[in-house]
Amino acid sequence: MSSEPRIDAGPCVLRPFRAGDEEAIAHHANNPKVAANLRDHFPHPYTLDDAEQWVRIANEPDPSTNFAITLDDAVVGGIGLVLRTNVERIGAEVGYWLGEEAWGRGLATAALRALCPYAFETFALRRIDAGVFETNLASMRVLEKAGFQREGVLRKCAIKNGVVLDVVMYGHVR
Ligand SMILES: CC(C)(COP(=O)(O)OP(=O)(O)OC[C@H]1O[C@@H](n2cnc3c(N)ncnc32)[C@H](O)[C@@H]1OP(=O)(O)O)[C@@H](O)C(=O)NCCC(=O)NCCS
Repeated sequence: MSSEPRIDAGPCVLRPFRAGDEEAIAHHANNPKVAANLRDHFPHPYTLDDAEQWVRIANEPDPSTNFAITLDDAVVGGIGLVLRTNVERIGAEVGYWLGEEAWGRGLATAALRALCPYAFETFALRRIDAGVFETNLASMRVLEKAGFQREGVLRKCAIKNGVVLDVVMYGHVR
C-alpha cells in the first residue's frame, strides 16, 4: 500500500480509505441524491460489496489520489483526483462527494481547499479542474469558494439518469 498521507482540512481530515470503512462508505454513498451528481461508475444502489471493492482499489495509485473525508476518523465522503495523461499530464480532474447528513457544513469546500496544495505539489500539476452538471449549484459554489474559476460550458456534454445536461467547467491553475 502507498504511504499514508493525512491532510488536515480544518473541520475534517483527509486520509486513505482502509479496511473497516466499508459500512460507513455504503451508508453515506447509498443515496440517489449523491449518485445523481456523479459519473455512472459511482453505483446506485451503493452496496456493501461496492464499498469493499472501492476499499480494495482506492489505494492502488502511489502516491495516493483518493482520500476519505473523515470526521473523528469516520468516513463521511470521498475526494479524489484523476491524473491526466499525454500532453495533459500537467493536469488532473477532481471529484468529491459527501453523505447527505454531512452537507451544508462547509466540509466539501474545506476538503477541496486542503487537497489542492497537496495535489499541485505531489503530482507537479499546473491545473486542477472539475466538470459540474448544470443543475449542481452547490458544487459550483464549493468550487468557487475553493478558488476555482468558471471557464465555460460544455453544451449537452453528459447524460445522467436519462437527462441530457450541460457540464460547467471549473479550473484552478498555478
Ligand atoms: C456538492 C456537495 C459536495 C457539497 O458539499 P457541502 O459540504 O454541503 O458543501 P459546502 O457546505 O462546502 O458548500 C456548499 C455551498 O453551496 C451552497 N448551496 C447548497 N445548495 C445550494 C443550491 N441548491 N443552490 C445554490 N447554492 C447552494 C451552500 O449555501 C454553500 O455555499 P455558502 O457557503 O456560500 O452558503 C454535496 O452536496 C454532495 O456530496 N453532493 C452529491 C455529490 C456531488 O454533487 N459531488 C460533486 C460533483 S461535481
